[in-house]
Amino acid sequence: MPLRVDILTLFPEMFGPVLGGSILRRAADKGLADYHLTNIRDYATDAHKSVDDKPFGGGPGMVMMAPVVCDAVADVEPKDARPATRILLTPQGRLFDQQLAQELSHHPRLLLIAGHYEGFDERIIEGLRPLELSIGDYVLTGGELPAMVVVDAVVRLLPGALGAEEGAADETFADGLLEHPQYTRPRDFRGSAVPDVLLSGNHAAIAKWRLEQRKERTRQRRPDLWKTIVERNDAKI
Ligand code: ADE
Repeated sequence: MPLRVDILTLFPEMFGPVLGGSILRRAADKGLADYHLTNIRDYATDAHKSVDDKPFGGGPGMVMMAPVVCDAVADVEPKDARPATRILLTPQGRLFDQQLAQELSHHPRLLLIAGHYEGFDERIIEGLRPLELSIGDYVLTGGELPAMVVVDAVVRLLPGALGAEEGAADETFADGLLEHPQYTRPRDFRGSAVPDVLLSGNHAAIAKWRLEQRKERTRQRRPDLWKTIVERNDAKI
């Protein structure tokens, strides 16, 4: 069964180029994932098709209305018998990372809710109990880009989504380390040569060099990641 991905958004047209291109498209073509877009505005009930309103208590911006979002979810969920993992994109959420992407890639169905405006009426969160996810400590204009980030990170992990050359097994974050430097032709570029070891044909030496580079990079650039690895006392390190 393909991973079913439902996306509820006010801007379904934003997703076309992302879901319809490259690896995400290929995953759908291979039957690994299927994407279903729902326009939240279709569930608005008043003449103006309102989906948001001013916050009670005052303040700037607009708030997504509970009935519209909850009705949309109630209508979409029964379209497939498999239970959906509900995900709401918000800067208030848990930070999305590779480990969570791995975990979500084993779920049968994801339902992502992308909001716009200042935020969601709290009763949406109380009613749906979604997994609230943030893609980073910055504020975007809406949850659409974060939803695309989550879908991209998850779908590329589905077995068969990446070709052999693009394998996800030993890349950055799979084991917590950053990636080693990479080189391709030409061997010499503006006086900077490819490290000899990579041209040596000595696979053991290359693997050793790469692991050293990965450790050094992680130590220098991401002391936070390095600390967790050391604490975990990973046998490989
Ligand atoms: N909506 C707006 N900013 C966001 C962020 N950083 N992560 C998830 N959803 C968001």
